[in-house]
Amino acid sequence: MKPIRDPIILPSEITDERDFRGRRSLLAALAASPLLLTGCQSASSEAPVGAGATAKAAPPVGPAAGGAIPGIKTSALSTSEPKTSWSDVTSYNNYYEFGTGKGDPVERAQSFQARPWSVTVDGECEAPGTIDLEDLIKPHAIEERIYRMRCVEAWSMVVPWNGIALADVLQRFKPTSRAKYVRFVGLEDKERMPGQRYPVLDWPYQEGLRMDEAMHPLAFLAVGVYSRWLPNQNGAPLRLVVPWKYGFKGIKGIVRIEFTNRKPATSWNDSAPDEYGFYANVNPAVDHPRWSQASERRIAADRNLFNARIPTLPFNGYAEQVASLYTGMDLATYF
Ligand code: MTE
Repeated sequence: MKPIRDPIILPSEITDERDFRGRRSLLAALAASPLLLTGCQSASSEAPVGAGATAKAAPPVGPAAGGAIPGIKTSALSTSEPKTSWSDVTSYNNYYEFGTGKGDPVERAQSFQARPWSVTVDGECEAPGTIDLEDLIKPHAIEERIYRMRCVEAWSMVVPWNGIALADVLQRFKPTSRAKYVRFVGLEDKERMPGQRYPVLDWPYQEGLRMDEAMHPLAFLAVGVYSRWLPNQNGAPLRLVVPWKYGFKGIKGIVRIEFTNRKPATSWNDSAPDEYGFYANVNPAVDHPRWSQASERRIAADRNLFNARIPTLPFNGYAEQVASLYTGMDLATYF
């Protein structure tokens, strides 16, 4: 079995060099801490994806922990590509609120209580409010959307998400004509999210979409994966999935959705504006300043294809559906 580590792209490369250097000195200072962040660059911090990952994959946590989500509808928007295994989807994660190593979230998020949970929806809308997660979900039929996911670090998965079209949820709050963007904010809670005790990012995690992107039928709010309520490490109980964009747009642990007329600040763009754009559309023609985006390493369930390099497609293969959102935009400038 080939190791998950890519010989060219280190997971640490998602972190801005300045921050990474800053974090190294921070790590040195914290060396005695039992909660030491292992750091992305440490091989030992990575989950053993592959045969060994099964042992690390955790049972799902949710209203019916370990249980199935009832009555899931299929969707014509799903890909028929082979899915990444449950073990890999739930043990090779980026969730810096629980540490920067790929295996940290599955280890450190298990005691996180994702229920009860409420979401505040506010800003430029006629019906703002704070709504309990169950009430947010209840009016909608939960769908399965099997989507490709392309991380900016140049690995990819095929994930069977369960959730609701983002547009259907947003409409209920009646956005006004002044709503040009949607801002998403993750939970900030240093007690429950130990990674937030370290200034790896400017907490809380924040993301944003232009309004027309948010209303696109492919944009999705996930509450589950593999027909089970979301495991904590995957962003329980609510996360965003935008399959034509790099994975970092898919904010986990959402507590606030704000309609705004100004382009919102987003965590990775704030951290390293030259490396991570607001749009973050998957684009093989625009390299990351420190690595190529022309191809990706597929974390395939079939171990013969595991880690195979495949070409990266514009908009992650969703160009037919979404390219028209960007007509006339220079995608190298607006990356
Ligand atoms: N959301 C929050 N709140 N914190 C994070 O660190 N990481 C992002 C995104 N959402 C992140 C987040 C990144 S970089 C990626 S690639 C995806 O989550 C990974 O999702 P997964 O672990 O479910 O595969």
